[in-house]
Amino acid sequence: MSPRSVRPVFVCQRCSFEAARWQGQCPRCAEWNTLVETVPVGARANSSNHSVETRGPRAAQLGATANGERYRTSIGEFDRVLGGGLVPGSVALLAGDPGVGKSTLILQVAAGIGSTDPVLYATAEESVSQVDQRARRVTVARDDLLVLPTESVEAIIDEANLRQPRLIVVDSIQTVTLGSVDGGAGSVVQVRESALALTRYAKETGTAVILIGHVTKDGNVAGPRTLEHIVDVVLQMEGDRQNAWRILRAAKNRFGATDEIGVFAMEDHGLVEVPNPSAAFIAERARGADGSVIGVALEGSRPLLVEVQALTAPTTLTMPRRTANGLDINRVHLLIAVLQRRLGLALGTHDVFANVIGGSRIVEPALDLALALAIVSSHRAEPIPPDLAVFGEIGLNGEVRGVPRAGQRVVEAGRLGFRRVIAAGRTIRSAAEVEVIAVHSVREAIEAAWSRPSPMRRVTATSHG
Ligand code: TYD
Ligand code: MG
Repeated sequence: MSPRSVRPVFVCQRCSFEAARWQGQCPRCAEWNTLVETVPVGARANSSNHSVETRGPRAAQLGATANGERYRTSIGEFDRVLGGGLVPGSVALLAGDPGVGKSTLILQVAAGIGSTDPVLYATAEESVSQVDQRARRVTVARDDLLVLPTESVEAIIDEANLRQPRLIVVDSIQTVTLGSVDGGAGSVVQVRESALALTRYAKETGTAVILIGHVTKDGNVAGPRTLEHIVDVVLQMEGDRQNAWRILRAAKNRFGATDEIGVFAMEDHGLVEVPNPSAAFIAERARGADGSVIGVALEGSRPLLVEVQALTAPTTLTMPRRTANGLDINRVHLLIAVLQRRLGLALGTHDVFANVIGGSRIVEPALDLALALAIVSSHRAEPIPPDLAVFGEIGLNGEVRGVPRAGQRVVEAGRLGFRRVIAAGRTIRSAAEVEVIAVHSVREAIEAAWSRPSPMRRVTATSHG
């Protein structure tokens, strides 16, 4: 099949819809003038003269595949999110906002993979000396790191054929292009075709590939799902400029679970693993302040203590404000309604602001109880005793429901010095040194939280007369 006999397709640069004919408006996403003529996927592979592509695949004997082999990277949090390290021949996408620390993380990963085979770090964004500077700054070993400043995918594959690296890093997939494909760097077609070419190389040679991708304002890497479908693993790096926490999640993982997170702190010398995020997330807690409650969430298989904060303030607005940071705003609305109806809390005339501290976005209903108590605590201007942690889902009737892995959560709370835990009735056996207070409703939880005189309670009690 010659390239001329291939019928072109027209690919939308926004949503990657494929049409047989040019149209002014994309039928799928309704955007105008986004269809671009392209050689279809697969056609090029037949016509191309790349040595890697002309060699046909060989049948593999199932038992003989190197099953389960993984490259450990000496960065435990990274390996854990991947499900135990990088899989040879796999392609991973690391997505995140510009500046979040993607290049830094991957540089540390590349240096940590330490082996006789080198790592090929292709960068179209920075010069060799910039990468070298960063490597000096994070003080990683630089001997096994081959830095290739290029925008060409062909050049990356050529160099890989020559050097036989164990891992190829492409920083970033939006800035490289494949010469045989129309469209500029970053267009949906280029991103897809470049990723496909690198994926083919990875599968044929067993080389691991990490693609770095910038997330656009609407949260996508170059067109919805374009890359996500091609790669084996999608990692997301999150964090904000206000604090040093960086969270790594697997949004897709063909070789492991997707619910593990890795926690890092961005320091002066690169990313530092935070093996004990619970302690870190609650370390800066303002003791004795009202509206702050420690909740026990679950991230993957790991219990995680976080500080949930609420602030209620009288409002002059007819529609009081409700905001949520790191929490699901719908849960905030729901809990406010429950507290109004079941406990008669006058929140209709108050703004409510809710926060999870620690740069973590947690969508677990198990934090309901912490959030409800934080709202009550702020509303009453009464702090929660400092030795108390809570977890439980709250239903519409104000009932507190059990959540998975309650025992593990209690143990984690105890490990971090909490002596009392409020949780749903029936579920729990107490861990040593932790008293578990079983409750069935928010009302009971509130009574239990403030039942014992603590120094702080007395202070507020007297101030209230
Ligand atoms: P970078 O890895 O370049 O981010 P990305 O590749 O996601 O765009 O790092 C971004 C920020 O991290 C940069 O503004 C500087 C900061 N930084 C540190 O604080 N400490 C360090 O050791 C390094 C290398 C970077
Ligand atoms: Mg970068």
